[in-house]
Amino acid sequence: MEKQKLIHTFGALAELGHEVAHKQNFQEMIRTSLHLLLGSLAIMRGGVARYSRFGHELNMLVIRGLGEEFPLTLSLCDEDERQFLTNGLAPIEVAQAKVLPFFQIYDRSFEKKRVELLVPLVIRNEIVGVILLGEKANGEPYSAYDLEIICAMSRHIGVGIAQRNLMAELERRAEENRKLYEDLRTTYKDTVKAFATAIDCKDKYTEGHSVRVGKYSEIIAEELGWDENEVEGAAVAGYLHDVGKLTVERNIINAPYRINAKESAELNKHPAVGYEILLPIHHPYADVPLAAKYHHERLDGRGYPDGLFDKEIPYIAKIVNLADSFDAMTTDRPYKRRRPANEIIEDLQRNSGKQFAPELVTAFFKGMLKELTGENKDKRFRRLLGRDYMETEGIIPMLKNALNGISPTSSLTLVSLD
Ligand SMILES: [Fe+2]
Ligand SMILES: [Fe+2]
Repeated sequence: MEKQKLIHTFGALAELGHEVAHKQNFQEMIRTSLHLLLGSLAIMRGGVARYSRFGHELNMLVIRGLGEEFPLTLSLCDEDERQFLTNGLAPIEVAQAKVLPFFQIYDRSFEKKRVELLVPLVIRNEIVGVILLGEKANGEPYSAYDLEIICAMSRHIGVGIAQRNLMAELERRAEENRKLYEDLRTTYKDTVKAFATAIDCKDKYTEGHSVRVGKYSEIIAEELGWDENEVEGAAVAGYLHDVGKLTVERNIINAPYRINAKESAELNKHPAVGYEILLPIHHPYADVPLAAKYHHERLDGRGYPDGLFDKEIPYIAKIVNLADSFDAMTTDRPYKRRRPANEIIEDLQRNSGKQFAPELVTAFFKGMLKELTGENKDKRFRRLLGRDYMETEGIIPMLKNALNGISPTSSLTLVSLD
């Protein structure tokens, strides 16, 4: 009969072992284990404590029948730890162990509650906790058989605690890693923004250009349904697309007139230079250097530096190209005022399939329309372009018409040169 009961008990414990991954389940597992242990050997009272290596203390996880005055935290000194480790999992009779500092300190509490046995939970050479057990219900001393059972069940509880410790440690490390990664990403983003500002500083006529191109690129990527990381990548590509301008002479960039061929050739080096600057940097997103290199290419092959055709141009570069051109059209230049919104919509529509990928123009118009109709509450266009500019009369129907007029799929490599 006794044996049957024990087999049942062990079965229950084995099942409980799977539950330690969750904190609450863990508490429950310890509680049930103690109850099973006390119940199966008819022990009056007991408790399970978990050992904190850092605090050098035992914290009671669950107690039964020990009363409210029983200390919930018990400190261990080095000598106690050493003794427990040497002792291993075997139950120690409290009456025999009075020499240890631990027993001297808690002598009274133990005596009052008639704690008879103490089992250090030593798992893989580490103390993970302690089990305290009171006297048996029938008043008899513990038999060798009892002690064997106690030892086996204690091991089970100890392994449960060790597993939970491991889980907690893993969770802590994962959290630490996540924080480190977040920090790194924040640093990267801040650096990118600082760079964008540095690039924009050099060009006094197009203040804030890189930042705006970053934001427009972000809007386009969002409208394409890209995921969060990809959208962020598109924004970074926009922020950094003109980084090569840092090496172009200030008077060329800031020339208050249309620059001549020689100056133009100098300026046109900026995509290649940008690529070289960005290539050795490890970016969390691919294609950032490619965006810099090819953001002046056009679908019809009339762009620079390589005169690539549609499909040969990296997708990210097409996005940045559209964002870049849009910003050039919508900001004042020394030799050219910004153009009204309706003209720009016409221009983008006319040039989709020639300079711009049609689906990108569509995405951009959609983003704009969503803001104007209030479907999207972020007032990004209004903030970047000014309220009046965006609320020009007739823009909404114009955008809708344009959206209907642009073929949704790109004609890709079929674009002709004439
Ligand atoms: Fe550029
Ligand atoms: Fe640009």
